[in-house]
Amino acid sequence: MLIQIQPVTWEIVYRLIFNLFFRGMDPERAHKLALVMITAMGEFPPARGLVGLLFGAKRRPGPTGPDGNRLFGRDLTGPLGLAAGFDKDAKAVKGLTALGFSFVEVGTVTRFPQPGNQRPRLWRLLEQRALRNAMGFNNAGSTAVARTLRELRRSPGGRDYVVGVNIGKSKVTAVPEAAADYFVSARRLARYADYLVVNVSSPNTPGLRDLQAVSQLRPVLLAARAGAAQSLAKDGRPGNLPLLVKIAPDLSDEDIDAIADLVEELDLDGVVAVNTTVAHDLGAGGLSGPPLRERGLEVVRRLRQRLGRERTIIGAGGVTCGLDVEAYQAAGANVVQAYTAFIYEGPAWPGRVQRRAARSMAGAGRS
Ligand SMILES: Cc1cc2nc3c(=O)[nH]c(=O)nc-3n(C[C@H](O)[C@H](O)[C@H](O)COP(=O)(O)O)c2cc1C
Repeated sequence: MLIQIQPVTWEIVYRLIFNLFFRGMDPERAHKLALVMITAMGEFPPARGLVGLLFGAKRRPGPTGPDGNRLFGRDLTGPLGLAAGFDKDAKAVKGLTALGFSFVEVGTVTRFPQPGNQRPRLWRLLEQRALRNAMGFNNAGSTAVARTLRELRRSPGGRDYVVGVNIGKSKVTAVPEAAADYFVSARRLARYADYLVVNVSSPNTPGLRDLQAVSQLRPVLLAARAGAAQSLAKDGRPGNLPLLVKIAPDLSDEDIDAIADLVEELDLDGVVAVNTTVAHDLGAGGLSGPPLRERGLEVVRRLRQRLGRERTIIGAGGVTCGLDVEAYQAAGANVVQAYTAFIYEGPAWPGRVQRRAARSMAGAGRS
């Protein structure tokens, strides 16, 4: 019989492992190692089952009802998903779901494969439990990722995973050609996704964030929608895939309002807010983790005031515990995502946060 280890013990065990092992290791190497282990665990059903038992990640969806956790018609096991950037090539969806994330946003995927920026390009800020990254969309490209997702969907139970696909502009594509680039990625990938995110907010691709200007964003979103529609049609599924745009925390309030108005005008499904911030003086790249939390909440609150209730807001930025999840939901997010806290808190963290969220929902009489 398995010995039940308390969640708090896992916390201590991971802190020990982090300090002894990962802390001294190059952050990107540590990331690769973690990803390989999670991928391997996910591909091996007995290991997946064991992880579910150890970390208490629930398989059943959580409370649904009007306030339950749902995302585009799918029931979720909790409000916490994994943010884009961790599983860029969609290799570890099974393992990440077993660890307790209720949905996984893969990518950013670009039309063409690309190596990303020169190393080093990922730094830890240990005291703040934050990260700074200038990765530059290193990924296997839309054709390869579509193949991986097709295999996932064809595997037993493969349709059960809730997967968002985040797409971005290839570095070699000039800004005026961006719409065509997003169109091709959407056409290749959409049919394997539960929702599609147009990322125009990462700080590490020159010119990308300029696409947040409404005049530039409109054609990009329309192209992504058209590509997605073609992709679904290939499967004999007429209609639109839920389409969202991911925005930066560094936009002015007026720019946020303008994007919200565009979301309404184009009848988009929602917004992912926020990406990493360049509001720091530490060097290249975007900052993530706790320093992002206050601005993330502000952006979500502003969006919710401007957007109709039928629009989905996926909140991200400095989510480190159940209280942060509640704060984002109180600000108007439907569900939340995290990346940085997962690095610092370890494999038992997603399950812990989901359990806490379920308890507080039950406490509020909403289950
Ligand atoms: C190393 C790293 C790589 C990231 N890569 C991407 C990416 O490829 N696409 C994207 O939309 N966001 C990317 N992000 C941003 C996250 O998805 C998220 O929006 C941001 O980190 C805020 O969440 P957090 O504070 O929980 O990390 C990345 C973040 C980190 C730390």
